[in-house]
Amino acid sequence: MKIGFLTCPGTHPGSPTRREDAYEHDFQVDAIRPELEKLGHHLVEIDWRAPAETFADIALAVVGTPWDYQDDEPAFLAALHGIEQAGCQLCNPTQVVRWNSRKTYLRDLEARGAQLIPTIWVDDPSADDITNAFGTFACDQIVAKRQVGAGAQGQSIHSRRTSDPQWRMDRPAMLQPFLPSVVEEGEYSFLFIDSELSHALLKRPIAGDYRVQSLYGGTEVAITPSAADLAAAQSIMMALPFPTPLYARIDMVRGDDGALLLMEAELIEPYLYPLQGPKLGPMMAAAIARRLA
Ligand SMILES: Nc1ncnc2c1ncn2[C@@H]1O[C@H](COP(=O)(O)OP(=O)(O)O)[C@@H](O)[C@H]1O
Ligand SMILES: [Mg+2]
Repeated sequence: MKIGFLTCPGTHPGSPTRREDAYEHDFQVDAIRPELEKLGHHLVEIDWRAPAETFADIALAVVGTPWDYQDDEPAFLAALHGIEQAGCQLCNPTQVVRWNSRKTYLRDLEARGAQLIPTIWVDDPSADDITNAFGTFACDQIVAKRQVGAGAQGQSIHSRRTSDPQWRMDRPAMLQPFLPSVVEEGEYSFLFIDSELSHALLKRPIAGDYRVQSLYGGTEVAITPSAADLAAAQSIMMALPFPTPLYARIDMVRGDDGALLLMEAELIEPYLYPLQGPKLGPMMAAAIARRLA
């Protein structure tokens, strides 16, 4: 059967506007495609903006590397809905994508028992909120992030001593204590396929930065998680308010008491770090085949 893998102009092979990090798209496709072929399925890359008819003969479409969806989220959600309407199974489904596109989903997970980084949610944040957060969290550094955002865009760090009284963010924000473990230890990613662990890794920022993304010089190494750390990640999977997703990347950092806390549960188009996890391709192909059976 034909399996679709959604792309965008920044990641689609041969596109004249491919991004510098489009090689990550290639790593993912190279991990999955041959494993699907072994099971008799054929992977085709399709731009998410392609007309819905394109999906008429596609049995299942993976939300792969549509890494520009934030630029036009309503159109993206409409396109995903159209793909499902065309009779194509979408992984992860539109409903999951919609839920995961605002970080307020973290509150749903918290209500279901997930241990988050302590967070204050503010719709119209100002310097007063930052000042209050220093008190609430009893800490000297605060991270302010957008409730809708990715790639650390619009994110800022505030210190008690150098706090800017004019600071504003013109959109809903989340305020968190700065966790030094991100710099001292790194941020963990746990990759789950159909809720089974494929692999885990540790992402570390470059000296002088606290952002772990490769875009800012961060690097990653495969690790074998401790039983307690793996259980913490699995408890997040169990808190998801819908049936098991095809793929999930659970990003966690260590809190001051030694337990891992949830940073993000990425269910839309995360990079799946296939180079750190040789099991990823075979597990993904098997999970897709199960969904077609
Ligand atoms: N509370 C925090 N303490 C320390 N570092 C943080 C904190 N929150 C975010 N970061 C850093 O910023 C990066 C981006 O934040 P994240 O919540 O993952 O948003 P996104 O990846 O969607 O932009 C993280 O990977 C981490 O390096
Ligand atoms: Mg992140």
